[in-house]
Amino acid sequence: MTSKFNRRDFLRIMGMGGAVLGAGGGGLILNSCDRSGGGGGGGVTDFDPRSAEGFVHPLHTPGDDGFLGIFNPDSPFLITSKDASVEFLPGKPAPAWQYEVVTGDRTYYNPIFRLTKGQTLEATMVNELEEETIIHWHGLEVDSANDGHPNNAVPGGASYNYNFPILNRGATYWYHPHPDKLVGEQSYYGLASLFIVEDENDTALRNALDLSLGTTELPLVLQDKNVDEAGQLIFEMNPMIQTIGVLGDRIFVNQTIKPFLDVETRIYRLRFLNSSNSRTYKLAFLKGSEKVPFSIIGNDGGLLDVPYSATEVFIGIAERVDVLIDFRGSQVGDEVFLKSVAFDPMDPLTVDMDFNQPSTLMNGEEFYVMKFNVAESTSYDRQIPSTLSTIVPIDTTDAGERLITLPNPIEGVWFINNFRFNPDEVPITIPRDTTEIWSIFNGPAAMPHPIHIHAVQFQILERVNSPQQVKDLAIDGAGRMPTDMGWKDVVLVWPGETVKYAVRFSIPFEGEQLYLFHCHNLEHEDQGMMINYSIL
Ligand code: C2O
Ligand code: CU
Ligand code: CU
Repeated sequence: MTSKFNRRDFLRIMGMGGAVLGAGGGGLILNSCDRSGGGGGGGVTDFDPRSAEGFVHPLHTPGDDGFLGIFNPDSPFLITSKDASVEFLPGKPAPAWQYEVVTGDRTYYNPIFRLTKGQTLEATMVNELEEETIIHWHGLEVDSANDGHPNNAVPGGASYNYNFPILNRGATYWYHPHPDKLVGEQSYYGLASLFIVEDENDTALRNALDLSLGTTELPLVLQDKNVDEAGQLIFEMNPMIQTIGVLGDRIFVNQTIKPFLDVETRIYRLRFLNSSNSRTYKLAFLKGSEKVPFSIIGNDGGLLDVPYSATEVFIGIAERVDVLIDFRGSQVGDEVFLKSVAFDPMDPLTVDMDFNQPSTLMNGEEFYVMKFNVAESTSYDRQIPSTLSTIVPIDTTDAGERLITLPNPIEGVWFINNFRFNPDEVPITIPRDTTEIWSIFNGPAAMPHPIHIHAVQFQILERVNSPQQVKDLAIDGAGRMPTDMGWKDVVLVWPGETVKYAVRFSIPFEGEQLYLFHCHNLEHEDQGMMINYSIL
């Protein structure tokens, strides 16, 4: 079935929830065939991600300072949220925002924190923006005073102190702003980076594969933005964009547009973060039309137990996916593209272009992300270890089940159960040291929602009633994909689907701790698809 909706139909659907969709559910159907490939507002076709041409900009890779510099904070430091100038288009500096850290003779912008378990982080966030902000350390187990709750946001000119020990296992965590209603805008303008915690499993993997962070082990931060011909970011908001989310038709990796990386004939570890506002990617590596297999080795909560081989992987908003790609199957001169391949976005926006959104690149549309040029052959005989880490299953013997419903939207507004964010309301309270099974049901006429919980990591038990494109990637009878194994803090729940996860609420902080549970589509979150929860 292919449907053509207009704007009025869309509003009607959003207003009436599932009723108008009738039987079948499963969201709305992709209708991208009549879409022009001409690119969006920019008109600079070289930057159009639908084209394989123009991948001539060296990927920004993390160094010892500067943008995405690797920073090990072994003493207290200041981190300033401030104005910056960024070349989203080469040679065209534009206003943006960044986190800046100055230590001794080094200056970092959006530093990649690199810490080991047990270390303490002591920092003061200085807000030099003209609006309130606060930093949230996404995925980390910290007390609520350090968690960046919107209640702790500070106005421009003020600062906020953080002091917490690193309790988490090794993984690619990250940090970003969390002020009420402003997360989308502040992230879009540049405030977000990685927080890498390392443990003995990372060391073992690095030794086994001869990896080195910044060259053969690379963080890759995926973002989409709209940029005009002068290189300025375009960020538009209206009620419909708020309902769907902001999409951009220019794709950035580590803030580099149409990037390439020269690689050798060996294994690389790529640590992906999707820090887009509302775009999901289905990543694949392609040599010509042939898919290059890769290994999925980690996700939000660190290394999996074993590597899983794959040719495609979904990465929802805020998720991390850690992969190994082996270029030994290639020869010098080969080009391997990283693409986001076509999928059904199950997203009402996609059915209609007559929509007040600057981007023409729809969720689910196929595009190129970056190019790997196989530039040098090297002798390399390492093999991927068969065991990566130990994942101890959460004991669910006495666990009660909690139902969370993500209903179809009402008048374009998203809810969690019947709640929208109210800073003073705590809809869920949980006695500490209890284990629960959360069963998250997404309405059939909804959008995919990347659902995130603060302070704890969970283990996905089961996916029920998944769309076929998810079932196609499943590796077990519980409908789980490789990225569902191990520890997670975000899970993409598709329309009509139920995801069950086990979570243990044990934290070592005294007294009641207030945290958040929310959709990580940043426009949904800002609209209020977020609730407080507390651990007693
Ligand atoms: Cu990255 Cu409350 O989220
Ligand atoms: Cu978080
Ligand atoms: Cu959502």
